[in-house]
Amino acid sequence: MKHLAGEAPEVRRELGELWAFRARAEGNAAERFARLAAGLEQTGATGAWIEEAREASREERAHEALCWSVARGFGVSEVPGLIASEVRGPAEGTRERVLRELVAICCISETLNVRVMAASLVMTRDPELRRVQKEILRDEVGHSALGWRYLERETSAGERGAVGSWLPGMLGLDSRHRLFQEVAPHPKEGRLRELGCLPRRDLRGLFVTTLGRRIFPRLEALGVPTTEARARLGEACHGGGERLV
Ligand SMILES: [Fe+2]
Ligand SMILES: [Fe+2]
Repeated sequence: MKHLAGEAPEVRRELGELWAFRARAEGNAAERFARLAAGLEQTGATGAWIEEAREASREERAHEALCWSVARGFGVSEVPGLIASEVRGPAEGTRERVLRELVAICCISETLNVRVMAASLVMTRDPELRRVQKEILRDEVGHSALGWRYLERETSAGERGAVGSWLPGMLGLDSRHRLFQEVAPHPKEGRLRELGCLPRRDLRGLFVTTLGRRIFPRLEALGVPTTEARARLGEACHGGGERLV
């Protein structure tokens, strides 16, 4: 299927690259959830948690296929692979490793993902793109919730206290430095926005406000210190002139 065949070539190219990027990210998420499921199993989690993580991995694979089909519809079939993200530090099969993976994947990545997908969906007018985004968004909400529930129910206050020092590294600010650089607006920005392709400053705003107003307060309510992470985010924003909230 050829998506939006009547659109300007540069619009189709941008959308193709966006959906190919999403496909890579979904493939990466599938691997991360599979690792999380294995880690949960190794550390003696109950079967329901393990199965939920496995199901999330399967859903991410389905998202990957969906995103590729959209990207191909825009004429893009190959993009450079993303650098696979993986928690470093504690040995595999330890509770600390599992907890690090879980916070990084569910509480941070998936929670951010939900906000970006929701914002993208709100702007999108095309029915086919809306259908795909709705389907993905529904699952991402569940993936995010898995981590928050586990953190609340299955960890001790001491374990949650330790999460604070891991947070700055988990924000991925080094690999996200481009997000904080100003770029000239795309000439077709208005049209791209209507098709759910958000400009960088919108993505930066979502990243900063989701962390500052949703993720950090929720972590704090669970006893996770966020002072260090807030300071790092503030430094990253400083260059871009963003006000940290
Ligand atoms: Fe996904
Ligand atoms: Fe997800």
